[in-house]
Amino acid sequence: MKVIKAMSYADLSKKAAIVMAAQIIRNPKSVLGFATGSTPLGAYAELARMFADGAVDFSGIVSFNLDEYYGLAAAHPQSYHYYMRQNLFSHVNINPDNIRIPNGVAVDPEQECAEYEQSIQDAGGIDFQLLGIGRNGHIGFNEPGEIFTDKTHLTYLASDTLSANSRFFGPGEKMPTQAISMGIGTIMRAKSILLIASGADKADALSKMINGPVTPQMPASALQYHRDAIVMYCD
Ligand code: PGA
Repeated sequence: MKVIKAMSYADLSKKAAIVMAAQIIRNPKSVLGFATGSTPLGAYAELARMFADGAVDFSGIVSFNLDEYYGLAAAHPQSYHYYMRQNLFSHVNINPDNIRIPNGVAVDPEQECAEYEQSIQDAGGIDFQLLGIGRNGHIGFNEPGEIFTDKTHLTYLASDTLSANSRFFGPGEKMPTQAISMGIGTIMRAKSILLIASGADKADALSKMINGPVTPQMPASALQYHRDAIVMYCD
């Protein structure tokens, strides 16, 4: 893994956006894997700005998101469908037909997971995957556990994740306890990976993922075995 320290959140966001823009410029038909959460917001704003400046063209891009809450429809303001629309897709010229995010209200979640995994394969695999990291070391919603999951699956959120993400849900708003997430295998099959992290509350997970043993108790540690992974962080 290549580890890069940015000077600030603004610097991290700019550098991450530049790496993603370079991927799009190098291959305008890239299959991109997107992440949600607070950390990528600055990078998405930078990408939107680069698009407005004419520096980057999303028209040939195919996108897959890492995960979606199970139980939230696309129109729900806390869904990742909504997040992506608000923070990136409505600001760039990506073709709506090329956007894939797991369906959080699929009647048959097992079938949804299998079809999602298949559609990644059918697209030729993910060229570039953006990741955040949870305080507990999760990537996507691959929570610490006994095994590294392989494929897209329905999973329960860890209690740490429930408390970390509860900040997005208003009083009286019920937070889902399950999600559909790409597996660690799905993520590891991406050709290039960029993991971004910001703030002191991620320092412990970062140091364990980079320097600790590769273990499903620290899901992000799997990236130590990836051939082209960058970890970019700021304090
Ligand atoms: P955050 O989430 O960017 O909101 O901290 C990251 C994650 O949980 O993967």
